[in-house]
Amino acid sequence: MCGIVGYTGPREAYPIILKGLKRLEYRGYDSSGVALLHDGKLDVYKKKGKVAELEESLTGKNLHANIGIGHTRWATHGEPSDRNSHPHTSASGRLSIIHNGIIENYAPLKKELISKGYSFTSDTDTEVLLNFIEDIQINNDCSLEEAVRIALKRITGAYCILLLDEQDPETIIAARKGSPLVIGIGKGEHFLASDASPIIEYTKEVVYVNDYELAIVRPNELILKNLGNEKITPFITKLDMEMAAIEKGGYDHFMLKEIYEQPSTIQDCLRGRLNIESGTITMAGIDDHIEQIKNADRIMIVACGTSWHAGLVAEYIIEELCRIPVEVEYASEFRYRNPIVNKGDVIIAISQSGETADTLVALEKAKENGAFIFGVVNAVGSSIARISHAGAYTHAGHEIGVASTKAFTGQLAVLMMMALRIAIQKGTITKERYQQLLVELADVPEKVDAILKNAAHIKSIALKYKDARDFLFLGRGYNFPIALEGALKLKEISYIHAEGYPAAEMKHGPIALVDENLPVVFIATKDSYHEKIVSNMQEIKARKGKIISIITEGDEISPTLSDDVIFIPPADELIAPIISVIPLQLLSYFTGIAKGVDVDKPRNLAKSVTVE
Ligand code: F6R
Repeated sequence: MCGIVGYTGPREAYPIILKGLKRLEYRGYDSSGVALLHDGKLDVYKKKGKVAELEESLTGKNLHANIGIGHTRWATHGEPSDRNSHPHTSASGRLSIIHNGIIENYAPLKKELISKGYSFTSDTDTEVLLNFIEDIQINNDCSLEEAVRIALKRITGAYCILLLDEQDPETIIAARKGSPLVIGIGKGEHFLASDASPIIEYTKEVVYVNDYELAIVRPNELILKNLGNEKITPFITKLDMEMAAIEKGGYDHFMLKEIYEQPSTIQDCLRGRLNIESGTITMAGIDDHIEQIKNADRIMIVACGTSWHAGLVAEYIIEELCRIPVEVEYASEFRYRNPIVNKGDVIIAISQSGETADTLVALEKAKENGAFIFGVVNAVGSSIARISHAGAYTHAGHEIGVASTKAFTGQLAVLMMMALRIAIQKGTITKERYQQLLVELADVPEKVDAILKNAAHIKSIALKYKDARDFLFLGRGYNFPIALEGALKLKEISYIHAEGYPAAEMKHGPIALVDENLPVVFIATKDSYHEKIVSNMQEIKARKGKIISIITEGDEISPTLSDDVIFIPPADELIAPIISVIPLQLLSYFTGIAKGVDVDKPRNLAKSVTVE
């Protein structure tokens, strides 16, 4: 939620910040703004809408500066408007701030400041934080750095902040807790951002700032401290990321590019881990802790959104193959209820961004209770990856489209490999079945590729149903979570109301929705539930619903019940979800496009949900 960029060094800051904001727009796009410091003067420009609107509004302005900060916002406190956009300026006009996160105790702080005579120009918690810092600085006659430290000890919530001070023309003060911050180290210059994408083209050397750390950043100096004012040696990491990963590469949208990347991202995920010849799966995170994991009393999976759907698939697969009880929890619920977490429990956290606030806090809570945390994460070096005891990266590459696609199939591939690795070690799977599933898994990239070649047909179905008011997605067994995922994808990028259900559960309520206007998508591949789901199709057909079915090549019965059919290659039922989700991603994409939605940046959403 919200993207932040900062620069201090010899170059022009504005073009670097602007380009960075465009790359971070996936994190929020309600409004954006920049603060530039030159000749001892702060210039702040901000605008409601996307970054392009800010850019347009600044044509012709003198934007010369060698230091600056920029922000792209996902609104929390206060509606999207020019006034609520960041950067915010302090009461004296001397300080400027950008913030990603939420200050939870802003209300009493605001009251306190108002009683001291402060007034506010925005509805944001950020402006409160800034004036709180300024007030501390004035009262204590201390440095800005010291004032920030004192203020941060008194606030609750999450933040990544960057601050500029008119009277300190080369320095950016930064701090984080719960929202990400990466600092790129150049020659006589530093770059700051919410992720590495704005930095990659200038330097590959970065420092990931940790929670409760404060950075004092000057062109030739990076000082890291904790909130107790003790210096910390910055740990420099080399970025393993190329520019191509953050460009559209000829596709109209990042989402389409990411859908089409899946044969290779799934291959990247399997590479070096799955070996058919030797019949092995090698995953250091599992291998190093195999006794603990295979003997777990229980596995709890904690995630949000699409990652939660991957967790649901994993529940079915792990229970089937490993015979370990699995519970799947929404991180946002887990963190606030009083869940029973015991020492022998293994928690699997699934997250694309590795920064989702609810998941992160849920893990911290489970860790305190002695659980073993295993992270299935896409973003390398992210907070969730770092707080996990062990983990496995999905290796899907940078995912920019707000709707998750390639990260989801990467998660499914990792979780499947984990289940197989645990099952063979535990002896809950036969050698033959294990080998058969290895082969099936290795075949997935080719099968995904075959479905992508059928995109034109899927597009024609999307065009046929684009004006529907509602959609129902039904699946059973391993494909039930895929029905949920199909409905989520359609909702988020086409704004059509959609619901996902276990196909048999439909009779207990949702069937009342069915009439001749309701498209019902069945994920009905050949598996042990096939006959049952065919009966469910009959029930919809009898009520004149329009059936779109995702079925296995060679199925002759389902087409007779369907209005539209998408064939997909045959696959073992445990592997099928990785394949059956692909047509649903394309269906949503083409529907969103047909409805004129900006599918990479659908309304109200943000890629990385760093607020609860
Ligand atoms: C939907 C989507 C979201 C995320 C959710 C969790 O397409 O992308 O539902 O899956 O916000 O995000 P991560 O996986 O980054 O923790």
